[in-house]
Amino acid sequence: MNEKPLPFDPLDPAAAERRAAARKRLDAIDPAKNPGAGPDDPYRRDWFEAVYALAQGDPAQVPWGNMAAHPLLLDWLAQHPRLDGIAALDIGCGLGDNAAALAGQGARVTGFDLVSRAADWARGRFENMGVHFCVADLFDPPPEWNEAFDFVHETYTLQALPPQLLDGAQKSIAGFVKPGGRLLVIARARDESPALEGPPWPLTRENIESLAAHGLALQTLEELPPAATPHRHWRALLCKNRP
Ligand SMILES: C[S@@+](CC[C@H](N)C(=O)[O-])C[C@H]1O[C@@H](n2cnc3c(N)ncnc32)[C@H](O)[C@@H]1O
Repeated sequence: MNEKPLPFDPLDPAAAERRAAARKRLDAIDPAKNPGAGPDDPYRRDWFEAVYALAQGDPAQVPWGNMAAHPLLLDWLAQHPRLDGIAALDIGCGLGDNAAALAGQGARVTGFDLVSRAADWARGRFENMGVHFCVADLFDPPPEWNEAFDFVHETYTLQALPPQLLDGAQKSIAGFVKPGGRLLVIARARDESPALEGPPWPLTRENIESLAAHGLALQTLEELPPAATPHRHWRALLCKNRP
């Protein structure tokens, strides 16, 4: 991996232009936007691989590569006690900013992504923070991760997966949480109607609540209007009760 992060300023018109061009290019090869046009890719694996390969080290060309932790995660962390010493897992870590934010709160963090270019890129940026970035598949995770984490964080991976994968993805994510541990989910929100035209596929309240079917109890569910970000969001905290 020899991708060196370029500086990225979301307010820089040149970066915005590169992002718009990348989106166009990526939409054109996205099987979810062009059903039947290419080889079957039900998990969008080839597409996620292509995102990082085509970006060639330019975060502006990774649609979620904002080079900053999600504002709703930072806000949540600021309102809660530090995570000193606890084992945390960041799902679909992308360029690693959310995992680094958890590490900044004292957690021992593992961040994983399906795409090795993403894990390598994140590692290159945050190796000094002691985050363990690795490659793993949410749908076939290492068995030793079962109920291994005190704090699991998920932002924007569930909504990036075709809706028919949601139940399996939620089951897997819930399985990482230790008895007594917590799961924090941040996702774009939508109402039950209208029909879905993803990706992304923003989640309904029912989608969030259905995490409870996998052994978690919903502690808080906040519906947050557009403010720090341009979209309406859910921010949910769930916990796994001890037997
Ligand atoms: C929309 S991006 C969000 C990245 C990051 N969580 C963020 O908020 O910036 C979804 C990420 O999930 C990863 N991903 C997709 N399918 C995955 C899978 N089956 N297992 C692990 N990661 C996956 C993608 O490669 C991508 O980095």
